[in-house]
Amino acid sequence: MVVERGNTAIMVDYIKEYADVDVFEVKPVVTYPEGYQDCIEYVTEEINRNDRPAYVGDITNINDYDVVFIGGPIWWARPPMILRSFIEAHPELAGKRLVPFGTHGGSGVSSYPSMLKEYFPNATIFEELGISGASVRNQSSKTAVENWLKKLGLHRASTDIQDIESDQGSCRYNVYTLDGKNVAQDAFNLDGIAPGIYIINGKKTIIK
Ligand SMILES: Cc1cc2nc3c(=O)[nH]c(=O)nc-3n(C[C@H](O)[C@H](O)[C@H](O)COP(=O)(O)O)c2cc1C
Repeated sequence: MVVERGNTAIMVDYIKEYADVDVFEVKPVVTYPEGYQDCIEYVTEEINRNDRPAYVGDITNINDYDVVFIGGPIWWARPPMILRSFIEAHPELAGKRLVPFGTHGGSGVSSYPSMLKEYFPNATIFEELGISGASVRNQSSKTAVENWLKKLGLHRASTDIQDIESDQGSCRYNVYTLDGKNVAQDAFNLDGIAPGIYIINGKKTIIK
C-alpha cells in the first residue's frame, strides 16, 4: 500500500520552510492498522483505555530549545494519545514557550492548547494554528502558516532584532508581546507601550 504524505507532515514542511526548527516525529512502536475502519477502531480503543502508547526513540536535548512546537492531527476531538506519552515523558516542557498546531477535518485544533494548559498551566502557550486537512496542500494554507509564524515572531525573517527608529516606513503598528498577546492593533504610534521586545508588524523590535 502506498501511504500518501500525511496532512500534518505537510504543515510541518511549511513550518520548516519559514522557521528555524528541528523536527522530532513521535512515531508509535506498534504501527497503526492500515485499513481505515480498523484504524478508527484501534484509535477509539486507545482513547477508551486512556492508553499511553510507546514511541520510537526520544529527544534528549530539549533543554537546548526555548520554543517547542507541539502538533498533530485531531482524532476524535483530541490529540492522539501518543502525544500524551511524549508530554508526560518531558516535564521540562513546563519551562518552554509552547506552540500548538495541527490539522483537522473541520473541528479545529483548540484541543491542542487545552491539552498543553492542562499539563503546563504556567507555561507560555502561543496562539495555535489549525489547518483543514482538505486544504493543507493549497497555497493559501502555506501562506497562513507563514503569516502565523510572522505574527508570533517565530518566522525566520523576524528573528533578527531591529531598532524601532530604523523602521519609519510603517504608518500603522500591530504590536504583539513575545508570547503572542496583541497590545496594539493598527495604532498610529507606539505611545504608552512599555519598553521591551515586541513583534511589531511581523518583526522582532526593541522599544526603548
Ligand atoms: C480516527 C480519526 C478520527 C478523527 N477525528 C476527527 C475529529 O474529531 N475532528 C476533526 O476535525 N477531524 C478528525 N479527523 C480528521 C483528521 O484530523 C484530519 O484528516 C487530519 O488532517 C489528519 O492528519 P494526518 O494526515 O497528519 O494524519 C479524524 C481522523 C481519524 C483518522
